Amino acid sequence: MAEPLRIALAGLGTVGAGVIRLLETNAALIARRAGRQIEIVAVSARERGKDRGVDIARYAWDDDMTAMAARPEVDVVVELVGGSDGPALTLARNAIRSGKALVTANKAMIAHHGVELAAAAEGAGVALKFEAAVAGGIPVIKGLREGAAANAILRVYGILNGTCNYILSTMEDTGRDFADVLAEAQAKGFAEADPAFDIDGVDAAHKLAILASIAFGSRIDFAPIAPVGIRRVLAADIAQADSLGYRIRLLGMAETETGSDGQCRLFQRVHPHLVPLDHPLANVDGATNAVVAEGNFSGRLLFQGAGAGDGPTASAVVADLIDIARALNAPGGFGSEIAAPFSIPVAELEAMPPAEAGHRVGRAYIRFVVADRPGVLAEITAAMRDAGVSIESLIQKGRSDAGQDVPVLVALVTHDGPEACIAEALRLLDGSTSLVEPPLVMHILEE
Ligand SMILES: NC(=O)c1ccc[n+]([C@@H]2O[C@H](COP(=O)([O-])OP(=O)(O)OC[C@H]3O[C@@H](n4cnc5c(N)ncnc54)[C@H](OP(=O)(O)O)[C@@H]3O)[C@@H](O)[C@H]2O)c1
Repeated sequence: MAEPLRIALAGLGTVGAGVIRLLETNAALIARRAGRQIEIVAVSARERGKDRGVDIARYAWDDDMTAMAARPEVDVVVELVGGSDGPALTLARNAIRSGKALVTANKAMIAHHGVELAAAAEGAGVALKFEAAVAGGIPVIKGLREGAAANAILRVYGILNGTCNYILSTMEDTGRDFADVLAEAQAKGFAEADPAFDIDGVDAAHKLAILASIAFGSRIDFAPIAPVGIRRVLAADIAQADSLGYRIRLLGMAETETGSDGQCRLFQRVHPHLVPLDHPLANVDGATNAVVAEGNFSGRLLFQGAGAGDGPTASAVVADLIDIARALNAPGGFGSEIAAPFSIPVAELEAMPPAEAGHRVGRAYIRFVVADRPGVLAEITAAMRDAGVSIESLIQKGRSDAGQDVPVLVALVTHDGPEACIAEALRLLDGSTSLVEPPLVMHILEE
């Protein structure tokens, strides 16, 4: 058998410890499939003495993880620390500069610096792989880069954050409110102590930016996404959506469109959506992730599975290592693996300007919390009419004997129409004393 593939492992948390366990448990089958052993030679984390449930005594220890790249015996640096910048980025740059392959699960770093790192990797002739960065254990990058490589991708979208999906599907099952379910998710370890990145859609936006680049051959463009998360979704919205034949899911969605100037633009959105009950994504529950890619010849492809957790994420990291080991077996070494981390070489990635959402046409659910007094409904419907929004259905909930001080919920579903008209209607209502809080708009997923 060929020389082992020697790796340095930075980060021994959930994913890092999972990688050690997986490499130990499946060592023999991995060696057969990879054509060589995959051997950890050095590890690093913040605290050497911490009990991690795995034996790290037999590996060399580096106090300074950014120095691991300088180890001459190492072929691949595996970065499982996290953070878009800081030591993770320094290590990644050092590794590539030193001619090491880099494997990472760090979506924040790839979303912000992926183009720079891929250009450096292509220049240095080393592999850069990040399957675990998008949807954890689901081989969606491989699916797009390899399985769907023959297709023009028309649209890619999906449930990219397990924490949000767990919260929404638990709200759906129990009728409980967001804050209550979030607290329970934190207690059970499904949500971080600081959940902002997840529930405000930033984590999903990182993953979407990476997926879009691979799907459309565009340069990663995270900055314009402006994600909207699930904080403002009420149990009443979920009940309302259900009665209309939908489930609420936080979706990341990307597609390209050609502007009136003939230029190709990139549309990327992370936002809660109403998903028709008969769509496969409506039945993705709990912490599961799912990605849909629509290919012009393959049709709809659905990738579904665990988007996080030590086992699934380690599975994706080690699959990348196996790819690198296999590529080394080929004449010329890393050859096939360096070709293009984003499917096509960085120099050929297209810099697509962001699409303007106002040009988009679709249906939407708009929910208002309003003072319970005469004339409020008329005020809302007049604003819709004046802005050119056509209402398909309107529901008013909560009106009771409780008195005029108790706000009520008004929800409406629009007919197909330009999003710009909805924005205009909301502008007309801005500042209205009838509205107790800003309206919540959720787009309806069209097949
Ligand atoms: N968890 C998942 O399910 C999952 C899924 C997909 C992708 N990811 C990505 O995988 C990466 C790792 O996630 P994780 O959940 O495994 O994180 P984690 O459990 O918090 O582990 C992070 C590890 O990095 C080490 N570390 C942090 N700062 C360091 C520093 N300045 N110098 C040296 N070591 C440092 C920590 O050391 P100590 O242990 O000594 O504190 C810890 O071992 C992140 O990029 C994350 O986005 C995670």
